[in-house]
Amino acid sequence: MRLVLLGAPGAGKGTQAKKLIDNFGIPQISTGDILRKNVAEGTPLGKEAKSYMDKGELVPDKVVLGLIEDRLKQPDCRKGFILDGFPRNTAQAETLDGMLKKLNMPIDSALSVEVPKDDLMKRLTGRRTCKSCQQMYNVYFSPSKKGGLCDKCGGELFQRDDDKEETIKRRLDVYDAQTAPLIDYYKKGGILKSVSGTGSIDEIFGKVCTALGLK
Ligand code: AP5
Ligand code: MG
Repeated sequence: MRLVLLGAPGAGKGTQAKKLIDNFGIPQISTGDILRKNVAEGTPLGKEAKSYMDKGELVPDKVVLGLIEDRLKQPDCRKGFILDGFPRNTAQAETLDGMLKKLNMPIDSALSVEVPKDDLMKRLTGRRTCKSCQQMYNVYFSPSKKGGLCDKCGGELFQRDDDKEETIKRRLDVYDAQTAPLIDYYKKGGILKSVSGTGSIDEIFGKVCTALGLK
């Protein structure tokens, strides 16, 4: 399976990608996670990316495309991959298609996870993530039982720097202007599938699997 996960910020791309990894063992490639790791480690790339991420803007294509090209050449991607948060605009999608053509591993599905706009703000302001194992929680919908600590590993939970209301608004606008057109891009390519991202995480996972022909 070579999958592109599409959806607005907070739609549950990361949440569903982690369930796909657990169930099918396919690597998740999240450009957001790779960029945040670089920011946390203070690499030159992280320093460049941070100024864009903190404003809710997209990081320049050349930065992200370099990261993706390296990652797709890793041996674990031969068995398939889940792209989460990439591509983010038409130029990225076209470059990705060219890269994958050369590697002889084209995308077979693009899955759009659709959530009403009104639900997204609460999901994002409430999100907390474990510093150690990256398990996600939500103070409104799925809080940790141990307060600020992870139920799975006891690690400290943190809030993402871009999960502030003003930055979220900008991220949602950027999604509408630059990323939502990819729904049409993949529809024209004949590989678009969509699921409603409303309901419990497990219910949505069931719909994701059905849409992808996995169950
Ligand atoms: P990125 O990390 O990709 O963030 P995003 O697209 O804004 O999406 P999120 O990760 O916020 O949401 P998600 O859909 O993964 O939702 P999640 O599963 O976490 O990008 C961040 C930034 O990096 C960008 O703004 C940009 O600057 C840069 N960047 C990244 N990729 C780039 C690219 N390709 N090009 C240029 N720049 C790039 O769920 C959210 C919350 O909701 C969690 O708390 C979760 O527990 C909860 N939740 C999930 N499902 C449910 C449910 N069914 N019911 C209730 N709560 C739920
Ligand atoms: Mg995510």
